[in-house]
Amino acid sequence: MKKHILLFVLIFFFHFSYSSEDWGPTGHRTVGKIAENYLTPEVAHLIDEILDGQSLALVSTFADEIRSDSRYKEFAPWHYVNFPFDSTYEDSPKSEKGDIVVAIKKCISILKNKETSKEDKAFYVKLLVHFIGDLHQPLHIGLADDKGGNTFQVQWFDEGTNLHWVWDEKIIEQFGMSYTELTENTQKLSAEELENIKKGTIEDWMYEGRALCEDVYAHTKVGEKLSYEYMYRYAHIVRYQLQKGGIRLAQVLNSIFS
Ligand code: ADE
Ligand code: ZN
Ligand code: ZN
Repeated sequence: MKKHILLFVLIFFFHFSYSSEDWGPTGHRTVGKIAENYLTPEVAHLIDEILDGQSLALVSTFADEIRSDSRYKEFAPWHYVNFPFDSTYEDSPKSEKGDIVVAIKKCISILKNKETSKEDKAFYVKLLVHFIGDLHQPLHIGLADDKGGNTFQVQWFDEGTNLHWVWDEKIIEQFGMSYTELTENTQKLSAEELENIKKGTIEDWMYEGRALCEDVYAHTKVGEKLSYEYMYRYAHIVRYQLQKGGIRLAQVLNSIFS
């Protein structure tokens, strides 16, 4: 009997520690922290009131924290979108439960509505911060067959894991930087580069992630050992995605609340 309990605990632990969800906390917090640098003072003040003084970095992981609570299960499919490489988002069947594009638009529309209560505003700001982050994780614009890389097994240095987790966590973890250090060490941008990042629609930003996702699949084999060479290829891309995510989050929040 004891053996069975031990086995159950081990399987439980293994399952939940290795099934990945999103950019890990460091990635999401970096997006939130970068966004704070681009909010207009008026919007920063409004959001501060809505969130009772909590920072965007702090609330960025809320959508993951509620994921294991069954009361919030309707929001689980809002973290990603899957469609085949040889198709487009528009031409693919939509999930009835929504997807990351629908989710972001829904958050924006609820937050723009003057009738929305302060409590709901806080809830949907927290979700929006998180989903704009997820939108910039290329494997969240993934394939249904392998659950966005969650069942695509690879080796990361000496550890067995999956491709999704490499992109959510491992590459960022390998930097050994905190979210504030990642924020302080973002790429310097010209005014023109900044304007180009801010431009575009949610779909445009989603397709950027899709292009990166296709590149990842072209350069990663099942069971492959990924290490320094992989970091060299993709680390700057991960950091740039976080930077763009932060700038665009601020852009969306500025346009909702100004
Ligand atoms: N579950 C199924 N597909 C997923 C994806 N693309 N990203 C995260 N979780 C998923
Ligand atoms: Zn993820
Ligand atoms: Zn998420």
